[in-house]
Amino acid sequence: MNINSRKTAPVGVFDSGVGGLTVAREISRQLPNENIVYFGDTARVPYGSKSQNTIIRFSEQIIRFLKTKDVKAIVIACNTASALALDAVRDEFDVPVMGVVIPGARAAVEATCNRKIGVVGTDATVRSGMYTKIIRQMAPDITVVEKACPLFVPLVEEGFKDHAVTREIIEYYLESMRGSGIDAMILGCTHYPLLRSKIREYMGEGIQIVNPAYETALDLKRLLRDREMENDGATEEHSRYSFYVSDAAEKFRRFANTVMPFDVPTTNVVNIEEY
Ligand code: DGL
Repeated sequence: MNINSRKTAPVGVFDSGVGGLTVAREISRQLPNENIVYFGDTARVPYGSKSQNTIIRFSEQIIRFLKTKDVKAIVIACNTASALALDAVRDEFDVPVMGVVIPGARAAVEATCNRKIGVVGTDATVRSGMYTKIIRQMAPDITVVEKACPLFVPLVEEGFKDHAVTREIIEYYLESMRGSGIDAMILGCTHYPLLRSKIREYMGEGIQIVNPAYETALDLKRLLRDREMENDGATEEHSRYSFYVSDAAEKFRRFANTVMPFDVPTTNVVNIEEY
């Protein structure tokens, strides 16, 4: 790839399904000139209940698919895949790959005053202990409290954000977290930012809620700048997005239209097992 086609090449973003759209949305806000190829693994979601080997295999297949689209960099928008597969895939491919855990951890380390951070995520993310490991590498004096909240994902996917049951489930999972003395909490799962206002209501104003998507978009910006790969928007190729899924394209498209700040007219289905 020459320098100009490298600049206009898309960024690949992938997730186990729709949740990573919250990361794509943040990238579109902060890097409006970048083209994005998004892949949502809707046939195999959720990743949060799967083993590390499976999550690594799925991530490798998706990266091989995204490379067929000539992506210049890849963002693993899924917290579970970032926690369990990033270390395994980072050096395997000749394209820079970044995840959301390091940026999210860094934002929380900067946000906490009392050195006590909460992390909520899927079962697999919490079992991996990756957020705690990264935070403590950055600041060994910080105490981290992690909690898996597996029901948050289906609540978001079923559009239950404003349903009374959501408030009850938030209380069920977060009661101990609220009493733990944390002053910053990482939403360590792609879906949780879509429940942010409800979580904030329950946790109260004294706790800073950290969405790793924001810091991830900033990291991507730095990565592209350092490698002279930023799209300066000077060509007509800028700002094109394409969306691929492994199943249920129409359901994904409808959801995408509720998350993305522009119309998502089409979603394409890919047989990801072929990659
Ligand atoms: N995308 C996943 C994450 O951020 C949540 C959904 C799933 O379990 O696959 O951890």
